[in-house]
Amino acid sequence: MQRKAVYPGSFDPFTNGHLDIVRRSLQVVDRVVVAILKNTSKQSMFSPEQRKEVIEEVFANEPRVEVKVFSGLLVEFCRQNEVSIIIRGLRAVSDFDYEHAIFLMNRSLKPGLETMFLMSDTEHSFISSSIIREVASLGGEIEKHVPQIVARKLRDRFQNQDK
Ligand code: PNS
Repeated sequence: MQRKAVYPGSFDPFTNGHLDIVRRSLQVVDRVVVAILKNTSKQSMFSPEQRKEVIEEVFANEPRVEVKVFSGLLVEFCRQNEVSIIIRGLRAVSDFDYEHAIFLMNRSLKPGLETMFLMSDTEHSFISSSIIREVASLGGEIEKHVPQIVARKLRDRFQNQDK
C-alpha cells in the first residue's frame, strides 16, 4: 500500500524551508499532498489559489507531490483524501508547544492519524513566511530563502506597489 502524507500549512509564501521538508518527506512516504489552509479570518499576502499555482510550479517535475487548498478541519481533509500521516516541520524549541498541542488535538479528533515531525535544516531554521514577507516588503534580499518563482512573485508584488 502506498504511504500518502499531508503537509498542511499557510505557505504565504512557500519557502526553501518548506521545500526541504517536502523533499525529505518523500524519502519516507510515497506521496505528499501539500495542503494550503484557506483561512478567511487571516489576511494573507497571496490568495490560496495563487499559492497553489506557485507551489505546483515548484513541484512541476515531481509527480509524487500534489497541491490542494482546504478549509475546515485538517482531520476531515485527511479523511476525504485517505491520508493517515501529517507532516510538520520543527525549526526550534519555540515551535514545540504549538506543534505539540496541534498534534494532540488532531490525534484526539482522529485516533490513528499520525504526525511525523521533521527538524528543519540549520540553513532554514530561522526562516518563516512572515519574516520573508517583511524583508521582501522592505526591499531586502530574499532570493536565498525562497524558490525562484516565489522570489519573482514577491518582487512583482512590491515593485508594483511602489508605483
Ligand atoms: O503554517 P501554519 O499556519 O502554522 O499551519 C497551521 C495549520 C494549517 C496546520 C493548522 O492551523 C490547521 O491544521 N488548521 C486547520 C484547522 C484545524 O484542523 N484545526 C485543529 C487543529 S489545530
